[in-house]
Amino acid sequence: MGHSNSPLPTACVIGAGSSGIAAAKALHARGIAFDCIERSDRVGGNWVFGNVNGMSAAYRSLHINTSRQRMEFSDFPMPTSYPDFPHHTQIARYFDDYVNHFGFRDRILFETGVEHAERGDDGVWNVELSTGERRRYDALLVANGHHWDPRWPEPAYPGEFAGAQIHAHQYVDNTDLRDRNVLVVGMGNSAMDIAVESSFVAARTVISSRRGAYILPKYLFGRPLDQVGVNALTTRLPWAVRQARLATMYRIGVGKPEDFGLPAPDHRLGEAHPTISADFLNRLAHGEVIYRPEISALHGDRVRFVDGSSEPVDVIVWCTGYKVTFPFFDEQFISAPDNDLPLFRRVFRPGIDNVFFIGLLQPLGAIMPLAEAQGRWVAAYLRGEYRLPPRPDMEADMRRERERMHKRYVASKRHTMQVDFDAYLLDLARERKAGAQRAQQAGHRLPVTPRAAVPAGAAA
Ligand SMILES: Cc1cc2nc3c(=O)[nH]c(=O)nc-3n(C[C@H](O)[C@H](O)[C@H](O)COP(=O)(O)OP(=O)(O)OC[C@H]3O[C@@H](n4cnc5c(N)ncnc54)[C@H](O)[C@@H]3O)c2cc1C
Ligand SMILES: NC(=O)c1ccc[n+]([C@@H]2O[C@H](COP(=O)([O-])OP(=O)(O)OC[C@H]3O[C@@H](n4cnc5c(N)ncnc54)[C@H](OP(=O)(O)O)[C@@H]3O)[C@@H](O)[C@H]2O)c1
Repeated sequence: MGHSNSPLPTACVIGAGSSGIAAAKALHARGIAFDCIERSDRVGGNWVFGNVNGMSAAYRSLHINTSRQRMEFSDFPMPTSYPDFPHHTQIARYFDDYVNHFGFRDRILFETGVEHAERGDDGVWNVELSTGERRRYDALLVANGHHWDPRWPEPAYPGEFAGAQIHAHQYVDNTDLRDRNVLVVGMGNSAMDIAVESSFVAARTVISSRRGAYILPKYLFGRPLDQVGVNALTTRLPWAVRQARLATMYRIGVGKPEDFGLPAPDHRLGEAHPTISADFLNRLAHGEVIYRPEISALHGDRVRFVDGSSEPVDVIVWCTGYKVTFPFFDEQFISAPDNDLPLFRRVFRPGIDNVFFIGLLQPLGAIMPLAEAQGRWVAAYLRGEYRLPPRPDMEADMRRERERMHKRYVASKRHTMQVDFDAYLLDLARERKAGAQRAQQAGHRLPVTPRAAVPAGAAA
């Protein structure tokens, strides 16, 4: 571990995906000694197609759906030669270049998994690695990703299905869908991409969902949608105002979902995680994708839907989302039942002063710049430059955030950690300023005492 003479706490970062490297870079820049433990042989996590960690959901054709200008780190722009929505190979290369540029590759322990992480009575984290080695750290940054553990329908639909079934996580390309009758389930971004790809080779492509969605285009008025947002979506205007603007733009630019044979959504625009596709409505309009409502039952080689219709189906692709899991924690210690893990501003867990979650949020906009801001925040905290508010204040803040989110978003396991990109960054900057004052009043005392270097048992 670097900086071993440092009087600061030592840290362990779990994962070197885009969130882990953003946090690692912040620790590196602020002189905090850390190890970043990565199961794969490279950085980039989800963006490494065919990643040897077996955890990537990337398919052969995957492009980002948040524009590169929204996704890039603030101090390391993506090459201007990149398109607005680069391919996964370009994104993976960008993350690799980021690590080289900031020079902390030697702090990443590749091909090593964190099997178990336990907080001892002295507060020190005991981390057990896949190599059998155990290491001690003062702080733990969790950046293990939240799109790798497939969620299959719960409960399963009744009946038996005779054909093939895969989850979107296993989907590579449309080769196995050629000339088959394909049923894609879900209305998120995986369902969009897979239904479109299927529609070019399958005998028939049907998509089924339990609610409607507003399919957003990648561009509006000639600009990537998430950049048009600077005026309409992302400012500090009240949500009701932004929502009304967005709805008007959508009505004028796209129309109504019903115009394309989709059901009227049971919510207003902006009340679900955005489903973005430049191609899906087109394939519906061409009759190459057929919409059906929710499944009612599976019947051998047919699937029945709640409107009484049925379809012959050879392959089902379940695009039903992901579970948030931390296999290295004891479940009763930290877990996210139904994807729900309440955190102070999506990072701090009140009551445990030395565990931090990075990138565990779903923004309207990309995750990376938010993970970057979170990493810097944690680094400032570990250096005693930021002090948390009292626990009751944090808990009140978390309750307010949750109420706001539950009021706005459709009740679903996919809406447990939604944030607005710009509002999140602005609120965080404000909170950091308040916390810097509190830290000053506390004489910049370290909130996490460096103990890990002391052999276990001798710390007290
Ligand atoms: C198909 C798809 C497309 C997406 N497109 C976009 C997009 O366009 N824009 C966007 O902002 N987001 C997108 N996302 C969201 C995605 O979560 C982020 O892009 C990004 O991958 C999050 O990075 P991460 O580092 O948090 O997680 P990951 O990329 O999943 O990386 C986690 C890393 O942690 C490592 N790890 C996990 N557990 C352990 C362990 N126990 N020990 C050691 N290492 C471990 C893994 O090996 C991996 O390298 C997409 C998600 C999917 C599934
Ligand atoms: N860059 C890209 O182009 C791209 C591509 C794919 C994915 N992604 C990202 O990856 C993440 C995951 O996306 P995702 O589409 O895989 O998952 P998701 O956003 O969680 O969507 C899951 C979909 O499945 C539905 N669903 C869940 N359980 C169901 C059930 N039992 N029966 C019927 N429907 C069910 C959900 O409906 P409800 O709304 O009713 O819950 C929702 O429509 C998102 O952040 C997404 O933006 C990006």
